[in-house]
Order: sequence, then C-alpha cells, then structure tokens
Amino acid sequence: CGIVGYIGGRQAQDVLLSGLSKLEYRGYDSAGVAVGDGACIAVKKKAGKLANLSTELDGQPLSGTIGIGHTRWATHGLPNDTNAHPHATEDGKIVIIHNGIIENYLSLKEDLMTRGHEFKSETDSEVLAHLIEEAYSGNLEEAVRAALAQVRGAYGIVVTHVDHREIVAARTVSPLVMGVGEGEMFLASDVPALLAYTRNMVFLHDGDMVVLHDDGFRVTDLAGNEQQREIEHIDWDAEAAEKGGFDTYMLKEIYEQPTALTNTLIGRLQDATGEVNLDINLDPSSFKRISIIACGTAFYAGLVGEYLIEQLARIPVEVDVASEYRYRDPLVSENTLAIVVSQSGETIDTLEALREAKRHGAQTLGVINAKGSSMTRELDDTLYIHAGPEIGVASTKAYTSMVSAFLLLALWLGRARGTLSEEQGAELLHAARELPRLVEQALAPERVEAIKVVAEKYHQARDYLFLGRGVNSPTAYEGALKLKEISYIHAEAYAAGEMKHGPIALIDANLPVVVIATESRLLEKTISNVQEVRARAGKVIAILSDGDTENARHADDVIYVPRAHEMVSPVVNAIAMQLLAYFTATALGKDVDKPRNLAKSVTVE
Ligand code: G6P
Repeated sequence: CGIVGYIGGRQAQDVLLSGLSKLEYRGYDSAGVAVGDGACIAVKKKAGKLANLSTELDGQPLSGTIGIGHTRWATHGLPNDTNAHPHATEDGKIVIIHNGIIENYLSLKEDLMTRGHEFKSETDSEVLAHLIEEAYSGNLEEAVRAALAQVRGAYGIVVTHVDHREIVAARTVSPLVMGVGEGEMFLASDVPALLAYTRNMVFLHDGDMVVLHDDGFRVTDLAGNEQQREIEHIDWDAEAAEKGGFDTYMLKEIYEQPTALTNTLIGRLQDATGEVNLDINLDPSSFKRISIIACGTAFYAGLVGEYLIEQLARIPVEVDVASEYRYRDPLVSENTLAIVVSQSGETIDTLEALREAKRHGAQTLGVINAKGSSMTRELDDTLYIHAGPEIGVASTKAYTSMVSAFLLLALWLGRARGTLSEEQGAELLHAARELPRLVEQALAPERVEAIKVVAEKYHQARDYLFLGRGVNSPTAYEGALKLKEISYIHAEAYAAGEMKHGPIALIDANLPVVVIATESRLLEKTISNVQEVRARAGKVIAILSDGDTENARHADDVIYVPRAHEMVSPVVNAIAMQLLAYFTATALGKDVDKPRNLAKSVTVE
C-alpha cells in the first residue's frame, strides 16, 4: 500500500494526490484521502485506480491544509469503497490509515463490539480507529500509543484528529519516511512520493513513533522515549528513488526479502496453539492427492512445496509445469487438490492449466502474489504470499515468499490431518518465525561481499553446474535458472546423487560446480558428491552452514549461510543463489532488471 501525509501551508489534497500517484508502481485496488480544515475532516475514498478518486475530487475538491492519503492493496476485505482507507470513527473526529496486518484484529474487534463500537468495514485496520478513540482523553499521541500497545502485527499507521493540528504516525515492519520542509512536513511510505516537495528526509526505524507539526517533528519509541533521527539529503533522481537507492529493482527486491517474508508469515502463525491460520475455506480432509502446477521460478517453489507437503502432511503430491499439464490429459478428479503457483496470477499456461483442473472437478487453491489477478477470480481459494510488487524480471522475493507459503500450507495440512504432532508443529512454527531474521543475516554486508568475490572469480565461465539434495534440490534448479536468466551463462542443475549418472562427463577444470551442502540428514552424501567433482578437477563452490570448517576443506570456494532448520533452509539458501547470479550478471555488464528475451509475465502460450 502507499501512504502520504501532509501538514503545512499548501492545499493538502494536491500534495496527497501527487504523492500517491508516485507510488502507483506498488499496485493498488482502491484509494482515499482525508483532509482537515480545523473544523472537520472530510474523507473521500473510491475503489479502483487512483484516477477514479482524482476524477471525483476534481468536481468537489476538499479544502484544508492537513491531510492523509492511502492507496490500498487489499488483505482483509474486498477492494470496495467502504474498505478503502482512511477509516474514521463514528463521530468523524479521528481518521486513520494503516499499512500491514493486525494479527489479533478479530478478538480486538469482538471486544470493541461488545463495548458498543460499530464497524463499517471488513478491514483489520478499522479496529485501530476504535482503539484510539477509546484511549483518547485529550492527547492524541498518548491515545495512539495506548492503542498500539494492544495490537500484534505489522503496521505503518498515520492518524489525525480534528481538534489537533498534528499528524501522529508509527511504524513496525511497514516503512515510513518523513519529508522536512520550511513550515511544512510530509510523510510517505516511500521516497518517490515526496521528491517533488523536499529532498530532506528522515527514515523512521522499526518501532518509531512520530508527531508532525507545521514546523517540525518529534520522534519517540513506542514506550515514549525520545529518539534522535538524522535528516538525510536525498539526491536520487525519480528512477533511483523507485529503486529505493539500489542500482536495480532486482537488488532492491533481494533486500526486501526480510520484510516480504514477514508479510507472508504474519497473522498466520498461532504460537499459543502451535497452529497455522490460513484463512481459507478448504477442507483438509476432502482430497487424497495434490497436483501443483506452475511455470518458471514458481514451478521450483512448487517442487519445494511437494517435498514439504509430502514430508509433513503425508499426502501424495505431483508437480507439473503448466504448459505440460494442460495437454497431457491429467488424471484429476474431485479427490484432487490442484494448487497453482504464480507471482503475477496472469501467466496464461498456468491459468489454462487451472481451468483444465477445474473441468475435471478438482478443488483449487492458488499460491499467488498479485491481488485480484485473473487466477484469483477463478480459484476456489487463494493463499496470498503478500510479497509486495515485484518488478525485476528475475523473481527473487516472490520465490522465497512462495516457498514460505508452502511451509505454512504443509504445516496446516500436517496438523489438520494428524501427521504432525503438536511438538513437531511447534518446532517448525518456530523455524518459520525465525525466517525473516535468518534472511536478514544472510544479507549481512560481509556475506554479500563474499558472494560477490566468488561471482567475480568465475564470471568468465562458459557453463555452471548446480547440485543439491532433498528439499534443496529445487534450490539448485532455481540457482541455475537465476544465473541463466540474467547472466546468460549456460547452467544446469541436478539432484546431487544423479550427477554420477551422466552430468559427471561434463566436469573438468573449467566447470564451476555450486553444491548446496548445508546442514541436513543427507549432508554426508552430498559431500561424497563433492569429492566426485573434485576427483575430476571440477571447481567446487560449496554453500555451507556457518561453522562448517570441516567440509570447507573439500571446496575451492565456500559461501557460508546462516544455520537453519532443514525444512526452512531452501529460503535461506536461495539468497546465496540470487546474489551469486546477480553479481555474475553485473560483472558481465548485463541489464539484470530487463534480461533479453524474457518477460515478467507471459500471457501468450
Ligand atoms: C515468466 C517469468 C519468470 C516467472 C514465470 C512464471 O516466464 O520470466 O520469472 O517465474 O513467468 O510467472 P508467474 O507470474 O506465473 O509466477
């Protein structure tokens, strides 16, 4: 979602609409603004593109110099006018906008309703307006603080009250940046929204709360302790700003993974009960087999899904590339759950495969990123991955979020079908919860630098081989795909044990072989495969878990990754694959965001 806030001497509506239009690339399904003039706050919101709202406001502009605006990417509730933000209290005095997900909103909402609050929308966000109203006794900042103390989840929240000339905002996972002007202050979820007005910006940290006045701001933490935040001068041009200061969208998206994964997981892990809450209607006992269907990177996420579901839920799974599935007269019936996996939700092969599965009476579930996309309209159920817009053609954050969504699904099925004990469930739930932090560690500067060194050492190679086993064999396939897509180096991937049955003939001193050998039940076997490569003078680039100096001896180069539970390791290991491909491509001077011949979303057969 996009957020913009303004307080100062200009007409707020103009600033809000121009700011929101710069956040368009984030995608949205509805938009709204609230503008205050001291006497009241007027709210206007509209489903659909921002243009719908702008047209409506053209005829009847809102007058006032304090305001907040939002473009929504729906999580809870349909994308209609009512569910659009801002949300106001019944008396219209307090108005809020919110990015993120309130995990405990249902219980908060029930409590608020028993205390007489009436809800207009189906959103989780509206509870915030009511909580603030309840806590308010003359001091808006304190009321917001008290409300936030009751919520669990992720938020960027922006609040204004008719009786106060101030904007109060706070953030956890969702980003917020403040623009500092002369006698005016700005707020946004992302830099591009503010560049037309100021280049002096303050990036709020996780857990920051801020109060904006016409002539300044004050930052505290959620407990109320003052925080010092530097004003930074941003000299990015508009394009660089959309890339968040990174050289490419792909690199930006690689670094967004801790946030993307948090958003995939949030609200779905119920620590107290060790259960997973997926908010889908599917009856876990209503099918006997699963068919996973996808293309490209999503297909590899599906292969990890197969492994996880079979291991944890003991249901037979098969995985097909969509273009094959469509034409092979698949054995599908009402006993089949067909799961389609797609970032865009538009890939024609996958969409047609979904229709084929439906024709045979299969139940259908989607693991999808793009809200409201064609597939979601035809699916029985959708498990959104909430990775946020992905612009780089080579998929990164969508892949790791898809894999994490499959972990959730496997856990859910395993618990529901009784194949996973409460104890095993709790252990995996813990491992899942750790994922964003592990990925953050995997992106630590010294690790990224080490991968860059390896990439540059081998960037002249003509071919590459990737090997992995078990749940990480798809990691090898995805690693090879990433490298092919953006560096155009020929790369192949095999399950490590299969190498001796053919690919071993390729090995010579010119062939770098990436071996995923992180902690697992099969590590020893993988190391045997490493020896086989070494014995033929191949160059081994080993992906090892932190601290594994023993196996480092067998490798020419080592990339260490954070230690992770085997079932979540494909997510952590994927980061190394992405960076290796990325730095190889940049060393070769390739355009990583727009690799030749590829399209982000392929809507032709
Ligand atoms: C295209 C892209 C791939 C992507 C595939 C599936 O081929 O170049 O990166 O993995 O489509 O896309 P989807 O949107 O269905 O996940």
